[in-house]
Amino acid sequence: MKGNNKNMFASKVGAILAAAGSAVGLGNVWRFPTEAGAHGGAAFILIYVIFMMFFALPVMITEFAIGRHGGNNVTHAFEKMSGGKRGWRWMGLLPVVSGIFVLSYYAVVAGWTLFYTYEALVDGFSGKSSEDFAADFVAFSSDSLQPVFWMAVIVAMTCGIVALGVQRGIERGAKIMMPLLFLFILVLVACSLTLPNAGDGMRFLFHPDFSKVDGSLVLSAMGQAFFSLSVGLGCLCTYACYFRKDVDLMKDGQSVACIDTLVALLSGLIIFPAVYSIPGLQPDAGPPLVFITLPNVFQQVFGGVPWLAYLFSLLFYLLLVMAALTSSISMLEMSAAYFHKNLRLPRPLAAVVVSLVCMLFGTFCSWSFGDWRDVTLFGMGFFDLFDFFVAKLIMPIGGLLMCIFVGWVVDERVLRAEITNNGTLRSPLYPLYRFIIRYLAPVGIFLIFANELGLLDFLK
Ligand code: ALA
Repeated sequence: MKGNNKNMFASKVGAILAAAGSAVGLGNVWRFPTEAGAHGGAAFILIYVIFMMFFALPVMITEFAIGRHGGNNVTHAFEKMSGGKRGWRWMGLLPVVSGIFVLSYYAVVAGWTLFYTYEALVDGFSGKSSEDFAADFVAFSSDSLQPVFWMAVIVAMTCGIVALGVQRGIERGAKIMMPLLFLFILVLVACSLTLPNAGDGMRFLFHPDFSKVDGSLVLSAMGQAFFSLSVGLGCLCTYACYFRKDVDLMKDGQSVACIDTLVALLSGLIIFPAVYSIPGLQPDAGPPLVFITLPNVFQQVFGGVPWLAYLFSLLFYLLLVMAALTSSISMLEMSAAYFHKNLRLPRPLAAVVVSLVCMLFGTFCSWSFGDWRDVTLFGMGFFDLFDFFVAKLIMPIGGLLMCIFVGWVVDERVLRAEITNNGTLRSPLYPLYRFIIRYLAPVGIFLIFANELGLLDFLK
């Protein structure tokens, strides 16, 4: 069934793909392998999947319920769902603030991926040694102009899509990019699995070593599950405002969580066999894994067949760009929607205004790897400060408040009506969902929060 209100997603598939696009991002292709690599692989992944199902997914469904109840304007959603409790009105500003902050630093890394795509396109990797890759990445990321330029290009692309509107921009973008993203992933996985020692990479990914499990691993897995689904920011609330009334929130949430987890696992299947194909390389290189280790690996393992090295590198970085873009669109939309709907700016102008603000902050974040390395606030450079503010403060506090709001403040009948589409769906998992939202999720989120702030050091 198609809808013709152009401020709503036209189809159920479009709604799922847009929400999946928001979730699938650098968190899956970059952060997940980095975290899994640092925490010994399979055991981390198993615990991550459990947290995904029992914590992050219920919080995502909660965001969907709040957003859709708000009906086309996320800023009013909390007040409306609480039955007019004005104290909760300010929560409607969460997506506006978090959108600007998250996009400002996310776009810096997204810009790096765009630059690496360009390098792959012009065959800039061939003939380089591992030392060259390390030196080039440091030189590029600390330059005062180049990374700022690529960050601005990513934000401009994002702005173009958001300016086109919900159906013509966001939904159509997701419908084009998500299938392409899957296609690229499958081609890359197929190539990666044919590499020498691919079995070692598979073992790392699927053979759990439970001796590696400790408090730090558990909390990182929980943090990754939340980051990967983008919960707590208000991103999913914003998109859910554009969901039609017949969308099954539970089912769509499950689909999005499955797609997100699948992309993360498949990314692992691309990256770890590639890393293990070169003797001596280890998968725990940390964040530079994707920008230093992997381009080097691609050159070495496919070096004998130059066109394959070229194609593999190009597809891999294109994959990263698309993943980043589908997420950055949702980040820009969070704030742009406010300027458009509440301040009545035309949508394209709202997108441009927010983009310019993000480009300015993004420039500061980018410079914190170079000229502004010594400029700190609260002991952190701009990039780290924005990351801290978003991932360690906004996400957990936002998620916690949403659980408290829906679990304890909202009238249970209102919640049930939203989840069951006014009683037209059976939703047998509803009681479990409500239990998690009232008890388990708030405790889990509080643990991440306390851990991130260093209050739970004894767990390590
Ligand atoms: N969920 C988004 C990502 O994975 C933020 O990149």
